[in-house]
Amino acid sequence: MDWWVSMPKIELHAHLNGSIRDSTLLELARALGDKGVIDFSQVEHVILKNDRSLSEVFKLFDLIHVVTTDHSSITRITKEVVEDFAFENVVYLELRTTPKKNDSLGMSKRSYMEAVLEGLRAVRSVDVAFIPYSEEPRNLSSPLLSDASEKCNGNTRKKIFVRLLFSIDRRETTEAAMETVMLALEMRHFGVVGIDLSGNPAVGEWITYLPALKFAREQGLYVTLHCGEVSNSNEIHNMLEFLPHRIGHACFFEEEHWRRLKSSNIPVEICLTSNLRTLSVPTIDAHHFVDLYNAKHPLVLCTDDSGVFSTSLSNEYKIASSSFGLGQKELFELSKNAIEFMFADNVVKEDLRKTFNSAAKNL
Ligand code: IMP
Ligand code: ZN
Repeated sequence: MDWWVSMPKIELHAHLNGSIRDSTLLELARALGDKGVIDFSQVEHVILKNDRSLSEVFKLFDLIHVVTTDHSSITRITKEVVEDFAFENVVYLELRTTPKKNDSLGMSKRSYMEAVLEGLRAVRSVDVAFIPYSEEPRNLSSPLLSDASEKCNGNTRKKIFVRLLFSIDRRETTEAAMETVMLALEMRHFGVVGIDLSGNPAVGEWITYLPALKFAREQGLYVTLHCGEVSNSNEIHNMLEFLPHRIGHACFFEEEHWRRLKSSNIPVEICLTSNLRTLSVPTIDAHHFVDLYNAKHPLVLCTDDSGVFSTSLSNEYKIASSSFGLGQKELFELSKNAIEFMFADNVVKEDLRKTFNSAAKNL
């Protein structure tokens, strides 16, 4: 496991609230129990349960949202999630989250996202680079990078690039989806680079989100879609026709979908543990990773929800190695290749190529 932890890694599919630490979730739930907002004894077992079906996962998300959706909790979770990824040598993180509105807490989609940014600023143990270089004042590093050269125990401090994707929840209306896209455009200078479509795949219609997704792409935002989490041939077809910049999962694909995917070369975010836990693939041996990898299709290993599925990106690489017989060299290359599909500018990509090249010499 040590090797997979020390290898530099790129995470392109991580949901903020799904990446919450178990300990934090339990602590926040207990505190709400003490205040009488929830009955802690009723929710404790839901949190601690390990194997959940896809529908149980979404029930857990509803609970997580009750427990986490106030500004200070969101700030705390963001800080911890970034620290956890950086700790296992994730050098670039695209973190996605659904901007939420909650009138009773005085929360708007904007204030929710400001709380996320506050969390990025609150990280102390590593340097977090989330402001795109083009937005940094000339000759001045951003406040966050002012100590980029500081040494920690004699070593150069770790640095993690973070970019944000705003998720549209499949329960949302066209107007709500459009509001999310408008907010993403306004917050671009804080490293918001794209839009994700996620949420319970059994809910909602593609046509509802299409106007907002189209608009996002026209405005130069990147778009990634949760695609093929359940069997829905028409929707998968329509999503592939849309030509998103990336897709996540691709589990319930039929022959026609594979052909279209491969000919369009859309990179796929693969989440092995998530797919197994939610029974979206029958066994690891039957996972489509193998076919796509052999076809040299662009792929990236990701966690999806490291908290909810009790995994880490290092663990996902370890599983790929032991399940598919891939060695350290092959998986190092797979990790490095993700630079080509990330939603970041060339300055970041060049910096990361150097990181990987120097790691290759040291590992
Ligand atoms: P949040 O957007 O930070 O609140 O992260 C949790 C949300 O991400 C969930 O409520 C879902 O909308 C979405 N999500 C997390 N995991 C999955 C998944 O496996 N499929 C689809 N949506 C997901
Ligand atoms: Zn996901």
